[in-house]
Amino acid sequence: MSKTVKCRVSPSLALIKYWGKLDLERNIPATSSLAINLKDLITETVVEFNEESEKDIMILDGEIQEGFRYNKFFNNLRSALKINKFFKAVSTNNFPSSAGLASSSSGFAALAAACTKLCDIDTPIQKISELALIGSASAARPLFGGFVLLPAGSSHAQQLYPADHWPELRIIIVEIDNKKKKISSTNAMAQVKKSSAFYASWVDSSERQLLQGLKALKHCDLEKLGIAMQKSYMRMFASMLAAYPPILYWLPDSIGVIHLCRKLRDDGISAWETMDAGPQVKILCLKSDTDLILNALKTEYPKLKTTLTSPGPGATVE
Ligand code: PMV
Repeated sequence: MSKTVKCRVSPSLALIKYWGKLDLERNIPATSSLAINLKDLITETVVEFNEESEKDIMILDGEIQEGFRYNKFFNNLRSALKINKFFKAVSTNNFPSSAGLASSSSGFAALAAACTKLCDIDTPIQKISELALIGSASAARPLFGGFVLLPAGSSHAQQLYPADHWPELRIIIVEIDNKKKKISSTNAMAQVKKSSAFYASWVDSSERQLLQGLKALKHCDLEKLGIAMQKSYMRMFASMLAAYPPILYWLPDSIGVIHLCRKLRDDGISAWETMDAGPQVKILCLKSDTDLILNALKTEYPKLKTTLTSPGPGATVE
């Protein structure tokens, strides 16, 4: 039997968003992102060398994946590690793929970690982060676990604090609609950069939100972090709305849940939402408020699936 390596990693949720590329070819982010892993969401990837043909095979949730993105990832990995082997990878997610739950972040991170281990080449985590970033810039983040920074202009991420830095922090994921998104984040970013009236001001203002977010995180101050998060995701979406054709990932229930978070905050409950390239809403809150928030969601949106999770550890490879 041929040797296999298994990697498990959680997707990376950005509290302060990366949106836009400085360098499309090298996938270098134009804005800094600050992120946590979603502990209970897991990508599991098993890789082995493909001894049967001179091509890479990637199977995700039972479907063969074709295309430029995986070719670019595997070719870059081969040239960076100076190897001439091809890979077969089988990956599964215990959550919806390509629906705005950051499946590409955990997907490429798991692939990079598993392939480097399979090659038996001692590779520092920053280098694995760099290899993952070629597949998806957000994939540079989840290997580390805890609270992670991917600076604008950088090709790898770094851990700021371990997952237990803020033990009371929780995340409620509200699944609004699990269909695969119609426009990928890469294409949406290109469209925004090319045509959005607000792209330059989004990039310009995002560094301020990062500084506010970093300060709030240092002091575990949810209200201050929430305000920075809100500015970050709202301005990211403003850049999408001002593109042509405009990009609109939100659905009516996404907006409903945003209003519900506002109402909860008006009532003194710290529920701070954020969204990514898809209709799902993720709510940051404290452990002591989770029952209240989950009950409010159940009352107003009984059909929506919710998952309660917390900041998670980094990748495990075996
Ligand atoms: O790494 P990508 O191409 O999947 O883009 C991620 C973009 C956002 O999820 C919207 C923001 C982020 O920083 O994760």
